[in-house]
Amino acid sequence: MKLDVFTLFPEAFDWFRGQRPVRKAIEAGAEFNTRDFRDWTPLKGGRVDDTPYGGGAGMVLRVDVVDAALEGVFGDGDRPRTIVLSPAGRLLDEPLVSELVQEPAIALLCGRYEGFDQRVHDHLADDEVSIGRYVLAGGELPAMVLADALMRRMPGALGDPASAIEESYSEALDGLPEYPHYTKPPEYRGWGVPDVLVSGDHGKVRQWRRQQSEARGDSPEGHRRD
Ligand SMILES: C[S@@+](CC[C@H](N)C(=O)[O-])C[C@H]1O[C@@H](n2cnc3c(N)ncnc32)[C@H](O)[C@@H]1O
Repeated sequence: MKLDVFTLFPEAFDWFRGQRPVRKAIEAGAEFNTRDFRDWTPLKGGRVDDTPYGGGAGMVLRVDVVDAALEGVFGDGDRPRTIVLSPAGRLLDEPLVSELVQEPAIALLCGRYEGFDQRVHDHLADDEVSIGRYVLAGGELPAMVLADALMRRMPGALGDPASAIEESYSEALDGLPEYPHYTKPPEYRGWGVPDVLVSGDHGKVRQWRRQQSEARGDSPEGHRRD
């Protein structure tokens, strides 16, 4: 897969690109590029935004700037599936990740300030994706969230590919959350480990894990320590 992330802050991705699942995926052939809107803007002084028509607070990222950046990178021909990050977009979940991971190439548009001119959403993007119903300062963290979910599915990204087969919301777990994990020490400050996990009975372990996944799936608020 080839990912092109359009942003005003390409340096925000320096850590992301260097850390293990992403670095390994890149070494194995995936591409991860950052593209700075300012490198392509047709406006003087690296300008990319303007005041909103109709008035109001904040600045809006211009459609001509975004179009120039997409054309500068992809030319006039076919563009990859283009996703604008937006708090109001389709909520990111495992089925959406599984759908997007089939794409050979994806472009991600990271907004800032008041976000993009609506014509970017309507005419330049194919989809809007949200990482949750709250507002962040920019699309860089949402882009990293989406890119991480995609890149860890690339061949070579994970040390042990088996760890991605049976994990929360996977087909192997019938879309349920994963069961709890424990490791050494067997007791810490009086907090023990479920006996079944140290029983050596693999059938019982499987059964216990399934029950735990189902119980977690029945509790949409997740784990709470009362
Ligand atoms: C400050 S936000 C703009 C918020 C916008 N004025 C609104 O009220 O919906 C700036 C940019 O951050 C990104 N962003 C913020 N929260 C997000 C979220 N929950 N999911 C995806 N992108 C988000 C988007 O790219 C957005 O254009």
